[in-house]
Amino acid sequence: MEALLLRSNSEEETIALGVEFAERLRVGDVVALYGDLGAGKTEFIKGICAYFQVEDLVTSPTFTIINQYSGVAVDGSSLKIYHVDLYRIETAEELAGVGFDDMVFSHDAIKLIEWSEKAEHLLPTAHYSVRIMADDENDSHRTIEITAPMTDKQGHVS
Ligand SMILES: Nc1ncnc2c1ncn2[C@@H]1O[C@H](COP(=O)(O)OP(=O)(O)O)[C@@H](O)[C@H]1O
Ligand SMILES: [Mg+2]
Repeated sequence: MEALLLRSNSEEETIALGVEFAERLRVGDVVALYGDLGAGKTEFIKGICAYFQVEDLVTSPTFTIINQYSGVAVDGSSLKIYHVDLYRIETAEELAGVGFDDMVFSHDAIKLIEWSEKAEHLLPTAHYSVRIMADDENDSHRTIEITAPMTDKQGHVS
């Protein structure tokens, strides 16, 4: 596993890091995001969505649990993105109730999951992890740790 440690000094920088990160994403990929409330998970996702030209409003789907956006892939084709926020999920039944299992294994979308720790056992083995940590000294500083899944020689997620 390769781990990448990044720093952000502002909301804008976190969005820009999301844009940069998105370049490596392919349809079917899962990105598990971790970090406390207000860490910046949604800001990072705004960057990913901006890269894919999503025009819908990108906000944490706290009550709806799963938002669906439409974007544009690099080759110009349309691309589906699921933005999931599991903050309010408390039981396996609730996860099943929102159709998490089918959604997370769907091959026709990129899946971005806030509070992934609530569904750790249901995540496909190959997924990206993005961990965002606040800084005690400065309110607008963040450390972002990205772990990539193993890839084969062609760079495909295995
Ligand atoms: N470096 C930074 N990166 C991201 N957000 C930041 C940063 N500095 C301050 N913020 C603020 O922190 C909040 C992050 O909110 P949000 O992305 O919704 O958090 P989460 O989705 O992790 O709960 C926003 O209000 C944003 O303005
Ligand atoms: Mg959020």
